[in-house]
Amino acid sequence: MATRTKAKAAKSKATAKKPAKKIVKLKTKKPPAKAAAAKNGNGLPRPSTRAYGAAGKALEGVRILDFTHVQSGPTCTQLLGYMGADVIKVERPGIGDITRGQLRDVKGADSLYFTMLNGNKRSITIDSKHPKGKEILDRLIRHCDVLVENFAPGALDRMGLTWDYIHKTNPRMIVASVKGFGPGAYEDCKVYENIAQCAGGAASTTGFREGPPLVTGAQIGDSGTGLHLAFGIMCALYQRNRTGRGQKVFAAMQDGVLNLARVKLRDQQRLAHGPLTEYSQYGENIPFGVAVPRAGNDSGGGQPGWILKCKGWETDPDAYVYFITQAPVWEAICDLIGKPEWKTDPDYAKPPARLPRLKHIFATIEQWTMTKTKFEVMDICNKHDIPVGPILSMKEIAEDPSLRATGTVVEVDHPTRGKYLTVGNPVKMSDSITEVKRSPLLGEHTQEILGKVLGYSADEIAAIQASGAITASEKPAAAAA
Ligand code: COA
Repeated sequence: MATRTKAKAAKSKATAKKPAKKIVKLKTKKPPAKAAAAKNGNGLPRPSTRAYGAAGKALEGVRILDFTHVQSGPTCTQLLGYMGADVIKVERPGIGDITRGQLRDVKGADSLYFTMLNGNKRSITIDSKHPKGKEILDRLIRHCDVLVENFAPGALDRMGLTWDYIHKTNPRMIVASVKGFGPGAYEDCKVYENIAQCAGGAASTTGFREGPPLVTGAQIGDSGTGLHLAFGIMCALYQRNRTGRGQKVFAAMQDGVLNLARVKLRDQQRLAHGPLTEYSQYGENIPFGVAVPRAGNDSGGGQPGWILKCKGWETDPDAYVYFITQAPVWEAICDLIGKPEWKTDPDYAKPPARLPRLKHIFATIEQWTMTKTKFEVMDICNKHDIPVGPILSMKEIAEDPSLRATGTVVEVDHPTRGKYLTVGNPVKMSDSITEVKRSPLLGEHTQEILGKVLGYSADEIAAIQASGAITASEKPAAAAA
């Protein structure tokens, strides 16, 4: 109140001071619409006053109809689940995701293949080809924001779930798909991880020059494409805030792999202008062909690197370190390995002079790394800012206390298989804390979803049950691999 009175007084004082006759045209500068909107927070709510991490999860309120199986699609929907989306996994009655039974390590329990890719989800069994099952799916389409699928090309259409049909049923729904290839000669092909690695350019550029193409252990075709799809879904959800309508989101595994292998397409184009000087074959005087060769353990960037043996390599297959001869720390490297004369020797002092000698340089550094364990090399080099990395085995990663502490490696309890390790959310957010939950049993949430999400009454659920749309037929299921 006091403030308002003061303001009024100030206003009348200003009016009194105005010259009586002279009319001064004051330019009343209206704030542009954009600036006004920015001042008001661009239409966003006021910043939450809740403590960070206590204002819900990033994707709270987003519901996913998860029609995925095997790895690529499940990776995507698990990430969305980690971010707080309600992920409803639709599985075939009695069979479920084929990976439940693949590579089984505990008899009768869901495999690690399945459990590690399907945390933070609920499972409902529906026969999508049963008339009653289709009716339930229709309801799910109306109640969900995103449908994610990675069936073989045409399978979703064969279920009657074409884009036109889904869009008509729920115009807001985003339909996200992973397929092996985009439109073109191979669009109808079924694709698994290693096929994508080969078709996306990763295999032809991985391995040693004298050996065959090689696939990598990292699942860049499956999990990599799942990640790409999750990014597309996020963007579609954001755009939907403006347009109010859903759209198709499509990620081909070949494209995903190529995106991750883009430095090799860079090198393909560089080849037209001369040899790739950072590849060790340049130093070995081996001519380049028409395509990017396999580069062994050469670094993919401008700083040469290689994998070097460390103490114990004779018995431990992982006693190695990746060593990068980064130019700014070259002098420190020379001192460490007992070659101070290289600091001024014109054959070694400058990066271009070193390129033809990389094999010899790394062999000399290796004489030093072989006297230390990989962790000793790491400790010593890091003190000098020399970029090195130990080759960690999966055993070491599983036992790493830092990865446990950050929630990247998480132990989860499961009713039929007991405790298992999984990879938690690799993306950490300060206001959306990930809680890693175990994977669901097959159909564990069928009743709950029918009743609480889709609003079926107890009698209707009983009728659905009797119809055979959510239960396994008497026919024995094909044995899982
Ligand atoms: N109820 C009834 N039928 C169901 C169902 C359900 N809930 N869920 C799946 N099905 C049916 C499908 O409709 C399909 O039937 P159809 O061929 O008669 O139309 C059938 O199950 C098999 O689906 P499909 O996707 O062809 O499985 P597959 O085991 O033969 O092939 C892949 C597996 C991975 C090769 C294939 O799905 C694919 O190429 N996917 C795209 C690329 C991809 O994601 N690959 C990476 C996998 S990690």
